[in-house]
Amino acid sequence: MKMDSLRSRRTFLKAATTSALAGVVLPHVHAGEASTIQLALVGCGGRGGGAAANALKTSGGPMRLVAMADVLDSRIKTAHGALVNEFGDQIDVPPERRFIGFDGYRKAMDSLSKGDIVILTTPPAFRWPMYAFAIEKGLNVFMEKPISVDAASTRRMLELNKAAQEKNLKVGVGLMCRHCGVRQELFDRIKNGAIGDINMLRAYRCKGREATCFTKPRPPSEPSELLYQIKNFHSFLWLSGGSFSDFLIHNIDECCWMKDAWPVAAKGFGGRHYRGEFIDQNFDVYDVEYTFADGAKLFMVGRTMPECSQEFASYAHGSKGSAVISFANHSPALSRIFRTQNINLRSDADVVWKGPKDEPDPYQLEWDHLIDAIRNDKPFNEVERGAMASAVTAMGRYACHTGQSVTFEQYMKNEHEFAPQVDKLTLDGPSPLVADSTGKYPVPEPGRKKTREY
Ligand SMILES: NC(=O)c1ccc[n+]([C@@H]2O[C@H](COP(=O)([O-])OP(=O)(O)OC[C@H]3O[C@@H](n4cnc5c(N)ncnc54)[C@H](O)[C@@H]3O)[C@@H](O)[C@H]2O)c1
Repeated sequence: MKMDSLRSRRTFLKAATTSALAGVVLPHVHAGEASTIQLALVGCGGRGGGAAANALKTSGGPMRLVAMADVLDSRIKTAHGALVNEFGDQIDVPPERRFIGFDGYRKAMDSLSKGDIVILTTPPAFRWPMYAFAIEKGLNVFMEKPISVDAASTRRMLELNKAAQEKNLKVGVGLMCRHCGVRQELFDRIKNGAIGDINMLRAYRCKGREATCFTKPRPPSEPSELLYQIKNFHSFLWLSGGSFSDFLIHNIDECCWMKDAWPVAAKGFGGRHYRGEFIDQNFDVYDVEYTFADGAKLFMVGRTMPECSQEFASYAHGSKGSAVISFANHSPALSRIFRTQNINLRSDADVVWKGPKDEPDPYQLEWDHLIDAIRNDKPFNEVERGAMASAVTAMGRYACHTGQSVTFEQYMKNEHEFAPQVDKLTLDGPSPLVADSTGKYPVPEPGRKKTREY
């Protein structure tokens, strides 16, 4: 009964919004049914379902989900069921608009009209062909981070984005912390000199075995090597950039935001302590020293090791004080500024400013901002920033995996493209990465493989 009454309240509110809009000339009317923005969801896993929910809940509605695509039927079924439960008739995805396979994204986007939105929440390996098609179709886009996995796919995204900008498409990238008001206030205060010049930043994401970054050999119940890798995408560099890129990009990006610069070089360390029977390509410890043009450093430490001390935080240190950028989680950020270098979350003695305990959900804010830009034709394209964050992250990973110091300029010329034919994969075809006769995959070997990560 509770669900039903919620749903009918939503339907009522929707009707009220629609009628409130009747007769109002919207600044930017898209080509679908008057004022309703249609959505297609490509990649119907955990984040895909979450992003679709944020889209459907946005303050800038009305919105309707009309198509879904995935390489796994089961993911569409689960996501569709959950979304129908929560959003009722905002979900209009009959079986003929549920597309399974590597070309499903094209059919899902064919179901939209110019100005609608496609949500790209597959592993990042598939971003560039999907973005290319979205641009061709004149669609607005929300894409999850990272948006590229290596230098070659970053170059391609930056090139493609020129066409998106020419078409005035609105494109959001899922670095949601950039939409957090408290971090924005911290940034403004730092810009106004609250901690002097930033000379050091440090960030930690030290947890246990997160998501699918540790993978066991493919069992006989998994006939397709390609789909097995996709199901365990954090384990394979071609799909995700591995645990380094997928997990650490948020901390790296928010540190670079506060520094208001991207690093120009990196050196890195890392290794794999307990490989056991796991066949993934990740290290379980990463430690990168990034250098900015003014000589300031960013130290990024990542660990995916059970039973070790855990930490999740980003900090900035300046000539006049220090700051917590985020602590414990993405949200609430718990940002604060200290007059000394003694960062102590348990004491307010040195605190000169701190953000509130409760903050709006940044995953919702990023959607509210995107929709506001679409409705009111404001400039909104986060791809360049997303590509820089993805590439800077990948440069740190490359430094760890090869054991070489690298400049950003050198990294961006690197020719090892992990999956150049990613746009040509088929459900029954091979993966770009094939196991050897023992079922194992090539792993990074610092100092031995110096220009390729595997
Ligand atoms: N911003 C954040 O905090 C955040 C949080 C979680 C995930 N993410 C990002 O979202 C993306 C997806 O992560 P997830 O956790 O939802 O993974 P997931 O495995 O739950 O979902 C990915 C889905 O994409 C599907 N897929 C894979 N290749 C496809 C293709 N070529 N065409 C269509 N569908 C395809 C998979 O079958 C799966 O259902 C990743 O880039 C991840 O980094 C971001």
